[in-house]
Amino acid sequence: LYRSRARSSASTFLLLGSSGAGKTTLATLLQGGQPSKTHTSQEPQTIECYLPGTIEALSQGYRSQNDPTVKAERKFAVIDTPGHGKLRHHAIASLEGPESKELRGIIFVVDSAAISSPTGLTETATYLHDLLLLLQKRRADAKSSKGPVSLPILIAANKLDLFTALPAQLVRKYLEDEITNVRTTRAKGLLDSGVGMDDQGEEREWLGEGGDGPFKFGHMAESDIDINVVGGNVVGEKGQAGEVNEWWAWIADNM
Ligand code: GTP
Ligand code: MG
Repeated sequence: LYRSRARSSASTFLLLGSSGAGKTTLATLLQGGQPSKTHTSQEPQTIECYLPGTIEALSQGYRSQNDPTVKAERKFAVIDTPGHGKLRHHAIASLEGPESKELRGIIFVVDSAAISSPTGLTETATYLHDLLLLLQKRRADAKSSKGPVSLPILIAANKLDLFTALPAQLVRKYLEDEITNVRTTRAKGLLDSGVGMDDQGEEREWLGEGGDGPFKFGHMAESDIDINVVGGNVVGEKGQAGEVNEWWAWIADNM
């Protein structure tokens, strides 16, 4: 009876974030339980994973692990993407292609140590700003037609094992403050270039519904985009698996 409920394709999560943030390392951990050595990614890659026995999927309810439908329901996929600026169109394409129908959420991986430097922070906040703006526009278009549904976002504040890393609450604050700056720079750039000057009446490209004050992730709720910033580290001592239980829990909740 339950067999017909098994899905043909698995819940999919898209891994985004700057180069070196730890996306591919996280994908290897989610796949095999241990982080592996990686090379800079050149193209997107889909990786099949299963929730470990210690984490309960919401859909599993009280049924036993031996139930065959439970195994199917514990299956999910992650799409690892290249973080390099010139390859990001691949990552964005995953939001628009046929696989986007299976997307259950986005995991935006951040190097919590790298964003303590101004260049690292600007790079990451710019990527995140542009992603959120794209999702906001997508959502606005969807309201008129029957378009894509909203996606929850996990901002995975990674590398917390490094002593130079910012704690998750500061990662959140730094990113919100820098997105506030990026938003102003972007708006000014559009004005200077004359783009958007002739389409009066059209909505200006402005991230969030919070007006001109400081940007907060909570403002994205208007576009049905739920954002959580959660700390962790893919790699622990001596290259062993680090601490990512809260990320597993987020995945389980969103499958
Ligand atoms: P691109 O493919 O270029 O977009 O980068 P990526 O996000 O896939 O980064 P990758 O997974 O290749 O990791 C980059 C480096 O960060 C590797 O040397 C990893 O071992 C290291 N790394 C990943 N996670 C952690 C962590 O939690 N702690 C520490 N200390 N290092 C980590
Ligand atoms: Mg990679």
